[in-house]
Order: sequence, then structure tokens, then C-alpha cells
Amino acid sequence: MTPAMKDPDKPVGVGFIGAGDVSILHAKAIERCPGARLVGLWNRTTERAEQRAEEFGCRRFETPEALVADEEVDAVFVLTNLESHLDYTRMALEAKKPVLVEKPVAASVDEVAEMQRLAEAAGVACMPGHNYIYEESLRRSSELIAEGELGRLVSVYVMYNIHHPEEIANRYPGVVRQILTHHSYILMFLAGRVRRVSAMKATLHYEEYTEEDIAMAVLELDNGALAHFCASFAADDHAADPWTVVVKAIGTAGSTRYSYRDWVEVKPGIAHSQTYTAYQASITNEVRHFIDVCVNEGGVPLSTLDDAMHAQRLIEAIETAIAEGRTVDL
Ligand SMILES: NC(=O)c1ccc[n+]([C@@H]2O[C@H](COP(=O)([O-])OP(=O)(O)OC[C@H]3O[C@@H](n4cnc5c(N)ncnc54)[C@H](O)[C@@H]3O)[C@@H](O)[C@H]2O)c1
Repeated sequence: MTPAMKDPDKPVGVGFIGAGDVSILHAKAIERCPGARLVGLWNRTTERAEQRAEEFGCRRFETPEALVADEEVDAVFVLTNLESHLDYTRMALEAKKPVLVEKPVAASVDEVAEMQRLAEAAGVACMPGHNYIYEESLRRSSELIAEGELGRLVSVYVMYNIHHPEEIANRYPGVVRQILTHHSYILMFLAGRVRRVSAMKATLHYEEYTEEDIAMAVLELDNGALAHFCASFAADDHAADPWTVVVKAIGTAGSTRYSYRDWVEVKPGIAHSQTYTAYQASITNEVRHFIDVCVNEGGVPLSTLDDAMHAQRLIEAIETAIAEGRTVDL
């Protein structure tokens, strides 16, 4: 039965491929999404799979093939490491199941293009896990900019300063791929595409891990505005009005701001020293959009695979700018 034929009163059954840290946020999001229920999960290591299946109260599948083939699973979340996203996305799309794939969507532009081809052939959604832009305040900023209410856009700042211990950071690529991917799709969503970039990176607090823990970029947009990116796992910002995660857009006739620090719970987050409510909320909103709009109504994500391709091009341009110490045209 295809998702379009499914009983509209029955929640969409979701299966997780991968049950690491981010699956905890997605499981909570599904709990908060009336149109969805978590059917089950598969994880490469059985011990982790058993633990999470018990925590989430769902089934454990023996293989990813069994998960995508199961008739209770209407949609698949790909929550494994970057390098394996394409393989599992392909497996789910070939079973004609819509996919939400975590960011960075893939390791190269060609891999994202392949996902797009597979989704078109299957006739189902493949949505990038570009969670931040599902926050109401960023959607409002995007509308204000698009409608010209801020006048001529002058600058956009996307700042991220959240300390990550080395043992967590070394499960990920450096902050260019892991964090500047968020900055890239946020900037595109607010202000359009980038035409030029320069960037630098450093490794400041790891003892052994050699990837960068801080990176900054300066960008020029197609519309002439400039943007600044900072992504740091090296230190938290403890000063007043901290730049933990801040997105600021400044125009000649107005400005907007989004900040993680508007909602703080004094208890440790999964990888953070405290809980930033907006992190979970952005994933909850993203999951609701995927289920309600993309799966049930055949609608489109706020950030598409086409945007994921441009984001990947931008990440690769930032890597070239860093490696060659120059400004790179896109
Ligand atoms: N949207 C966000 O804000 C956000 C936050 C954290 C992580 N993520 C993304 O989510 C994904 C998972 O991150 P995480 O924090 O859960 O990491 P994690 O290390 O906690 O979990 C990753 C899981 O993937 C599995 N895995 C790794 N390589 C695999 C392979 N080749 N085949 C099958 N399974 C494999 C591991 O066994 C593990 O269970 C990554 O793509 C990451 O970038 C997104």
C-alpha cells in the first residue's frame, strides 16, 4: 500500500535506521506529533538497538532491509553517520517509503543528486533534516525579508558556540561539515544563494582529534548582502546575551534575531552542558512538517534536496577557501 492510499485516520508508522544520540530527539518529536507513531528501529550494534527500542517502546528490526519492507513502516528516518546516508536512503526509497535524512544529507553533491533521482523515481518525498528553519521565528524572518519589510538586506550573521567534549566531537566530521551545513541552509532559506566565500578554521581544544573545532566564513550573496558564519565546538559563550546559537538579519528598514538563549532549561542536554529548548523544538517542528505536509499531503519541505545540493556546494567551497587561503566563487 502506498502512503497516498493509507487510512488518513491512522498515524504514519515511522522506522528509524540508526539509533544514536539524534534518535532520542526524533523519538521525542514523534511522541509530540499526533499524526505519527514510532514502529521500530534498526541499529548497527544490537546492544544499542535493544536499549533504544526499550526506551522508545518500539520494535527492534534485525536488518535495515526488514525495516523498510515492513508493512507497518510507512516512512523512514535515516539517522546514521553521514557516510552511510545514501545507502539507507536508497534502500528506503526503492521500497517506496518517504525518507527524512539527517544532515549533512550526504558526503558529496553527486550523492544528493542521486537521492533526488531516486525520490523522483519512487514518487515519494525525501526531505533533508534541515531542522532549524522549521522554527517559527526563522520562518517569520524569511517572510519579512522576502516581502521587503526589512528594506534592502544588508547582512546576515549565523553564530554557533557550543562546547563539545572531544569524545563526542570525534564521532562527527569537523565543524565545517557538521555545523556549517546548518548555517548554509539557514542562510539560503533567509536570503538566497551565495556567490563568493572566504573562510578559516582552527583546532583549539582537542587533545588528539585532528579535525577543526572552530571555523568562520565571510560570504557574499547573489542579492549583494554579506554574511558571517561562526561554528565552534571549542567553547561555550558565557557572557551576557551569549552567541550560543544566534541568527541575525539586518536590513536598511529593520532587523530580526533568533537565539537559543531565549529558552534554557538548567539540566544537561544530550551533548550540551544545558538544555536549549529550541533544539528539540526545531526537530519536533521538522518532523511534524515531514509527516503532515510531505507524507500526508504530498507537499514539499521548506528546504529541498536542491537546497541540500547548494549547501553541499557551499561547504565544499568553504573547504577550498580554507585549503587554498583564497576567496572562492560558487
Ligand atoms: N539536526 C541536528 O541538529 C543533528 C544533531 C546531531 C546529529 N545529527 C546528525 O545525525 C546523524 C547521527 O548523529 P548522532 O548524533 O546520532 O551520532 P551517534 O554517533 O550518536 O549515532 C550514529 C549511529 O549511526 C550508526 N552508524 C555509524 N556508521 C554506520 C554505518 N556505516 N552503517 C550503519 N550504521 C552506522 C552508529 O552505530 C550509531 O548508532 C549524523 O548524520 C549527524 O550529523 C544532526
